Amino acid sequence: METHVNELRKRKSIAAGSAKDVERQHAKGRLSARERLDILFDPGTFEEIDTLVTPRYESYLDGRASRPGDGVVTGFGLVNGRHVFVASQDATVMGGSLGEMHANKIVKVMQMALKYGAPFIALNDSGGARIQEGVDSLAGYARIFDANCEASGVIPQISVILGPCAGGAVYSPALTDFVFMTENSYMFITGPEVVRAVMQEQVSFEELGGGLIHSRESGVSHFLSKDDTECLQLVRELLSYLPSTNQDDPPYLQPVDDPDRRCPELERIVPVDSHKPYDVREVIGSIVDDGRFLEVHQLWAENMVVGFARLNGWAVGIVANQPKVLAGTIDIKASIKAAHFIRTCDAFNIPIITLQDVPGFLPGKHQEYGGIIRNGARMIYAYSEATVPKLMLITRKSYGGAYCMMSSKGLRGDLLYAWPNAEIAVMGAEGAVNVLFRKEVTSAPDPNAMRAELVADYEQKFNNPYVCAARGLIDDVIEPRDSRRVLIRALEVTLSKRERHIPKKHGLSPM
Ligand code: HXC
Repeated sequence: METHVNELRKRKSIAAGSAKDVERQHAKGRLSARERLDILFDPGTFEEIDTLVTPRYESYLDGRASRPGDGVVTGFGLVNGRHVFVASQDATVMGGSLGEMHANKIVKVMQMALKYGAPFIALNDSGGARIQEGVDSLAGYARIFDANCEASGVIPQISVILGPCAGGAVYSPALTDFVFMTENSYMFITGPEVVRAVMQEQVSFEELGGGLIHSRESGVSHFLSKDDTECLQLVRELLSYLPSTNQDDPPYLQPVDDPDRRCPELERIVPVDSHKPYDVREVIGSIVDDGRFLEVHQLWAENMVVGFARLNGWAVGIVANQPKVLAGTIDIKASIKAAHFIRTCDAFNIPIITLQDVPGFLPGKHQEYGGIIRNGARMIYAYSEATVPKLMLITRKSYGGAYCMMSSKGLRGDLLYAWPNAEIAVMGAEGAVNVLFRKEVTSAPDPNAMRAELVADYEQKFNNPYVCAARGLIDDVIEPRDSRRVLIRALEVTLSKRERHIPKKHGLSPM
């Protein structure tokens, strides 16, 4: 037996790689595939499988040594005490390139995650399709994409980009629910050499698809971290809000924050003058448990803030206009950002809390040409389709289309509230008076005085929360300081909500 055991140990130690391999990764400012797993999983819980898989055709390798495991470490372990499946690419084996067996290993753990009901996490650090394996490699990518689509909406899928991720390889991450990147990672469809050859333009890896670019410009990345360690700890935090499958509830955490805690600071944070900006993250921080808010897409479409928090221990998704950026108007990116987040929350049974302070849409040719009509419709579709509890609080402005689109009663919003300073109307008083009373104003002996009088009259008659409350289109007008208490009570009564759609193959959500 001893000989057999020694042979096994020898093979596994080759698969594990050498100290020199680890040093090569460290020299690039990155951790090794296995060091990353030590951070991701609860200590000592990771179990590797398929350690001894080798490429089918050694002849492909042209004398270059693959190692047992074929460049990707796969298996399962516990994160915050719950099972998670993983594939962690090993850049020290042929650049982490993806061949047939490497792909098979990834697809196998994805299918296990789906079958046994646990999240799947891919740690990407790869030169892409393994050139020597040609179409076998491309076919492997296609199987991974298909497995991503099959698992979509059933188990959480998270991609973590910790090195290169190039060419069509980017599409597996793009099919997953959340993409994490480090500042030292990059993703692109066509590399700098191709850009130089075709477009005669010089660009660096970082400019073309570095973590910062995808977190700030393209929105491909939902989270940006400075290094591998910070990134993997953030993945653990995100998982604490997500259920293992779409059949489970999100994890509940015993709260310490008092559910009846009043929030008088809200009256200071939000200026009554609706032209004055403020940071909606302060409002969120005041309402949610312990002020803890995990913001998603923090650097992209900053006029809409989305992320996870807890209310009396229950995980919730927050969608909020950000008056500090573009006055909180909705544009194409903001709508896409909110729609993706709402659909993710809905798929995983996470109630949605909407905080509204929105003057309307960002006007202009750029928005119209870019398809704000088609893209704005995505957010309506997402709100309408969502069957999780949908609560809403209007903290100041709620105008026009934005009122209808964000969790309104018409879109089957459950319990909706407004503060007493709320302005809920088709448009602001100035705009309304210009349209309705142009003749009266221009023909008045003192047009400015006439306009001011009409504006004051409009504000008093329409621009308040009481018209909406009188129709039952909001469920109550509340004092700002009661926001946390009221939202928790509303959440707890709606947690038992059961709503079904008419059966159909699938809807045709605008794209
Ligand atoms: C085979 C590869 C490889 C690949 C890297 N290697 N990429 N082997 N297929 N795609 C090998 C290298 O030959 C080298 O082997 C080792 O990995 C380390 O690579 P280095 O270049 O020394 O590392 P580094 O300097 O860190 O550069 C990393 C890199 C670069 C930027 C990723 O390796 C690179 O540009 N690789 C090619 C990227 C690419 O064009 N991939 C195809 C994309 S298209 P030795 O033996 O010297 O250690 C694609 C299509 C997918 O992926 C389609 C899906 C639908």
